[in-house]
Amino acid sequence: MGQQILIRDVPEPIRKWLDRQRYEQRLSLKEVLLSVLDKAYRGQETAPLFSSTLAATLPPHFTPFTFIDLFAGIGGFRIALTKLGGRCLFSCEWDKYAQKTYAAWFGEVPTGDIRKVKPADIPDHDVLAAGFPCQPFSIAGVSKKNSLGHAHGFKDATQGTLFFNVATIIEAKRPPVVVLENVKNLLSHNRGGTWQVIKETLESLDYRVFHKVIDAAAWVPQHRERIFIVCFDRHLFGDSPQFEFPEPPARNGLKLKQILEASPPKAYTLTDHLWKYLQEYAERHRAKGNGFGFGMADLEGISRTLSARYYKDGSEILIPQHGKNPRRLTPRESARLMGFPDDRQIVVSDTQAYRQFGNAVVPLVIEAVGREIMRTLAWLLAKHKNGCLVKGRLVTGAIGRNGDR
Ligand SMILES: C[S@@+](CC[C@H](N)C(=O)[O-])C[C@H]1O[C@@H](n2cnc3c(N)ncnc32)[C@H](O)[C@@H]1O
Repeated sequence: MGQQILIRDVPEPIRKWLDRQRYEQRLSLKEVLLSVLDKAYRGQETAPLFSSTLAATLPPHFTPFTFIDLFAGIGGFRIALTKLGGRCLFSCEWDKYAQKTYAAWFGEVPTGDIRKVKPADIPDHDVLAAGFPCQPFSIAGVSKKNSLGHAHGFKDATQGTLFFNVATIIEAKRPPVVVLENVKNLLSHNRGGTWQVIKETLESLDYRVFHKVIDAAAWVPQHRERIFIVCFDRHLFGDSPQFEFPEPPARNGLKLKQILEASPPKAYTLTDHLWKYLQEYAERHRAKGNGFGFGMADLEGISRTLSARYYKDGSEILIPQHGKNPRRLTPRESARLMGFPDDRQIVVSDTQAYRQFGNAVVPLVIEAVGREIMRTLAWLLAKHKNGCLVKGRLVTGAIGRNGDR
C-alpha cells in the first residue's frame, strides 16, 4: 500500500459530511482525511477534530491560487496572499524606492508605469489585487450597454485615470476574483461620484461587487479605516456568491507601548524649534475653534492613522517622553504599527520608509479578507463537484455554460 490509500464507493452521507468539513475548515480533502485519521490514531477523543498538531502544521489555505499585485507598493497584499497559498505571477509599481524594498523582500523588481503595461503581457491569474490611487471621475455614470452611443461605457467615464488601467486589465484577463483597497473617503470623494463610477464599472464588467470599510485596529494598535472591495466574476460565481467580509476579531489588546523600541535613537526626538512650532500652530488653531494640530499618542491605547506624510514632521503620532520633547515613531515602529514583522528589512531612507508604511495595506487585514475569499472558492468548487480552478477558469464536467469560456 505504501503511503497511498484509495477509497472507493464512499457512502453519500459521509461524502457530503467530508465536503462540509472541507468547506468549514478550509482544508483540502486530503487534509480533512489525515486529520480524522490522525485523531483516531492518537485517540484524542476530547480534542476538537481539527486542532491536532497535524492540522496546525498544514498550510491555512484550501485552494492554491495565483495572483497579480498592482500598485504593489511594498507588497502588503503579496505578504498576505502568499501566506494563504497564493503565488504571485506579476507585480507593478513605478516608485523606485518602493521597488527597492519590494526587490529586497520578494526578489523581484516590479514592472513600472501601469499605463504602459499591455494586458496581453500579464499572465492569466485567479486573483487581481490592487491598492490603486484615488482620482476623481466625471459623474456621468457607466452603463453596461453603450446603446446608441447615449450611455457611457467605463472607457468614457474612467479614461485617463489609473482605475481605467485596472478596469482594462480586468476586462482583458477576467480574473475570477478582484480585491481592491483604498482610503475610506473613496466613498465620499467627488460627492460619491468616484465610488459610483468604480462600482458601476465593475458591475458593467459583469462582476458581483462587495465592499466594506474595515478598521485595522482589531489587528494592530492603530486606528486605520480603509475600504475593501471584493468582486467575483458572475460568469463563474453567479449572481449570489457566498461571501461575507470577516468580522474583525475582538481586539487583541495590543497597546501602542508594546510595539515601541526600547532605546530609540535621540535623532527621533523633536528639536526645540519644531516642537515650539507645532505647539504654536496648534494654539492658533485652537483659538479659532479648530482641532489640534498634532496628536500626542496614548501609549496605553492605539494610535491615529499613520499617513504617507508622516515623514514631514511626525505630528500626527507623537510619542510622549519624560522630561524631554516628544519624539516621532522610528521607521521600525511604523512597520510594526502596520503589522510588518521585524524580519522585513528596511532598505531605504527614513523618509521613504515612512512614506512606504504610510501608504501600505495592513497585511493582516488582507489575510482575514483573503480567508473569506478562499471560503467562497471552496464553496464554488464544492458546488461543482470535482471542479478546479485552472488559469482562472473553472474546469469541470458539470459547469454548463461557463465550462467552455
Ligand atoms: C496606496 S499605494 C499602494 C500600497 C500597497 N498596497 C502596499 O501595501 O504597499 C499606491 C501605489 O501606487 C503606485 N503608483 C501610482 N501610480 C502608478 C503608476 N502609474 N504605475 C505604477 N504604480 C503606480 C504608487 O507609487 C504607490 O506605491
